[in-house]
Amino acid sequence: MVTAHAPGKVYLFGEHAVVYGEPAIPCAVERRATVTVEERSDARLRVDAKDLQLEGFTVEYGETGGDPAVEAPNPMLEAATQYVDGAVSQARDAADAPEAGFDVTVESDIPLGAGLGSSAAVVVATIAAAASELGVDLDPREVADRAYQVEADVQDGQASRADTFCSAMGGAVRVEGDDCRTLDAPDLPFVIGYDGGSGDTGELVAGVRELRDEYDFAADTVAAIGDLVREGEALLEREDEGALTELGRLMDFDHGLLEALGVSARSLDSMVWTAREAGALGAKLTGAGGGGCIVALDATDATETALTYEAACEQVFRAELATDGVVVE
Ligand code: PMV
Repeated sequence: MVTAHAPGKVYLFGEHAVVYGEPAIPCAVERRATVTVEERSDARLRVDAKDLQLEGFTVEYGETGGDPAVEAPNPMLEAATQYVDGAVSQARDAADAPEAGFDVTVESDIPLGAGLGSSAAVVVATIAAAASELGVDLDPREVADRAYQVEADVQDGQASRADTFCSAMGGAVRVEGDDCRTLDAPDLPFVIGYDGGSGDTGELVAGVRELRDEYDFAADTVAAIGDLVREGEALLEREDEGALTELGRLMDFDHGLLEALGVSARSLDSMVWTAREAGALGAKLTGAGGGGCIVALDATDATETALTYEAACEQVFRAELATDGVVVE
């Protein structure tokens, strides 16, 4: 039996634009998916998922390769099973054990579909745990690469490498197309506000694509996010207070550009404004948008307290930078 865990992430900058080859900077945060895997004597796959901010569920898969024989009560649950199924296929491939069956238990304290990289963390942890159970210790970069293949399959080729690379490596990372690097970043004072909902990543990505195809100024907006990321990247190398203030200003700007691209939501805007009015250095949505989470920068308690009283905010928490990526226990 092997257990592995991997962190979720926030986007400091660059979601959506990263889909078109612009750079993005996600940061891993200390909210984790933990996956325990035990090899079975047959080729079946049994997945037990708890705490996915949904009702727990159990799925039993028949022969390998086919679709899981499960009546998923909602599309997110269906996606969750597809992610685990894809991750197990990658582990089988890595260990050259196509017939390996597993009992898999998934536990996560990352809100599902809310822009915190929950699916990437589950996929990364599952690949690492299942490969290790089969006697193969994968390098985090290989885990990231395999996890990306899974996300790309499940999301019909629309996924960037940002979530999976960040979850596997930990810390702050920079992703530009296939070029993925780790960055040296200070522990930024992230505060996360969660509206209790989620957005449909596929639809939101498609919406930006349409706008970008239709209007040159929308394409310019995407390019402007790329410029902003390059500016922000340089700031991360500085550790003075002024740099933090400027990072916050760029986060505000990024949120404005994402809003212009149509991926924000009233709940996200309300939380962003509450954070700003409380004195946060900056605030923006994180991830695909449409609902889910915002991330603000504030070393004081003011933003956290203000979000507690914000009607649109269901949960607020501080999130430290997760310096460890995937860990096999
Ligand atoms: O909502 P998340 O955490 O899955 O992030 C989606 C980020 C996008 O840039 C919109 C898509 C992607 O795959 O990078």
